[in-house]
Amino acid sequence: MTIAITGASGQLGRAAVDFLKARVDPAQIIALARDPSRVDDLGVEARAFDYTRQPDALTAALAGVETVVLISSSDFNDRVGQHRNVIDAAKAAGVSRIVYTSILKADVSPMLIAQDHRVTEALIAASGLSATILRNGWYTENWTGTLGAALEAGALIGSAGSARFTPATRSEYAQAIAVVAASANHAGKTYELGGDEAFTLADLAAEVTRQSGRPLPYNDLPPEVYQGILESFGLPAGFAAMLVDVDVKAADGWLEDSSGTLSDLLGRPTTPMAAAVSAALG
Ligand SMILES: NC(=O)c1ccc[n+]([C@@H]2O[C@H](COP(=O)([O-])OP(=O)(O)OC[C@H]3O[C@@H](n4cnc5c(N)ncnc54)[C@H](OP(=O)(O)O)[C@@H]3O)[C@@H](O)[C@H]2O)c1
Repeated sequence: MTIAITGASGQLGRAAVDFLKARVDPAQIIALARDPSRVDDLGVEARAFDYTRQPDALTAALAGVETVVLISSSDFNDRVGQHRNVIDAAKAAGVSRIVYTSILKADVSPMLIAQDHRVTEALIAASGLSATILRNGWYTENWTGTLGAALEAGALIGSAGSARFTPATRSEYAQAIAVVAASANHAGKTYELGGDEAFTLADLAAEVTRQSGRPLPYNDLPPEVYQGILESFGLPAGFAAMLVDVDVKAADGWLEDSSGTLSDLLGRPTTPMAAAVSAALG
C-alpha cells in the first residue's frame, strides 16, 4: 500500500507525513513537492510534483501509488485547474483512492473560499476514483499565529461579530489525514471536521487577556474597514476579500462543526482553545 502526499513541503503535508510514518512503513510513503530537496529531511522517498504541470507530466510521479493525498493548493491562481491536473494524473496512473483536504460544508457553503473545494470535490466524484473527503474547519493557527501582533496593536480585529468557530490545530487535521490515508475503511467517506470547542473571537480575545495579563479587546469592524486594514498589511485585495467573506459568513455557522468526527478519528479530544492560546503565548 503506497501512499503519496502532495504539498509535503507545506506545514500540513509535512505534519501528515510525520503522522503517517507512525502508522505505515515509511518505505510505503512518498512525499510529493515542487522542490523534492525541501522534503529530504522527512526520511521518505521524495518525488517532484507541481500542480501546474499537465497531467501527462505528473503521471510518472504517481507510478505505483495506491492512495494519493491531495492537499489543496495554496496558489489561488486557477486552483481548480491545478487540482484537476492532479486528479487526471491519478486516474491515468491507476491510483485507487484520493484523499482530499476540503473545507467544512463545501457542497453547500456560500463562502467564497468553498467554491474551489466544491468544484474539486465534484471533479473527484466524476473521476470515478474512490475518495475520502476531509472537510476541514478553520485552523486555530489562523488566529494564534498572529496573537503577538494583535497584542502589540492592542486589539484582535475581524468582521465575525458573534460568529462561533470550531477550529482545530493544523497538527490535528494532519493526524486525521494520516488516520484516513492509512486505512481503506475510510474509502467513500466524507468527513466534516472541527474542534470540540466552539468559541467567538471575543471569547478568544478574553482568553488571551486572561493569560497574558494584557488587555486585548475584540474590535468587530465593518467589512470594508477590515478589508482595508488587511490590504494595508500587504494582502492582495482578492485574498483579503476572501478572508473578510469568511468572517461575515461565519455568523451563519459555516465554520462550525460540532459532530465530534475529528476527535473520533483522532481517538482523543481536540486541543482546547485555552491550551492553543497558552502554546502560542509561550
Ligand atoms: N482551513 C484553513 O484554515 C486553512 C488555512 C490555510 C490553508 N488552508 C489550505 O490548506 C492547505 C495546506 O495548508 P498549509 O498550512 O500546509 O499551507 P502551506 O504551508 O502554505 O503549504 C502549501 C503547500 O502547497 C504547495 N503548493 C503550492 N502551489 C503548488 C503547486 N503549484 N504545486 C505543488 N504544490 C504546491 C506548497 O509547495 P511549496 O512549498 O513548493 O510552496 C506547500 O507545500 C493550503 O494550501 C490551503 O489550501 C486551509
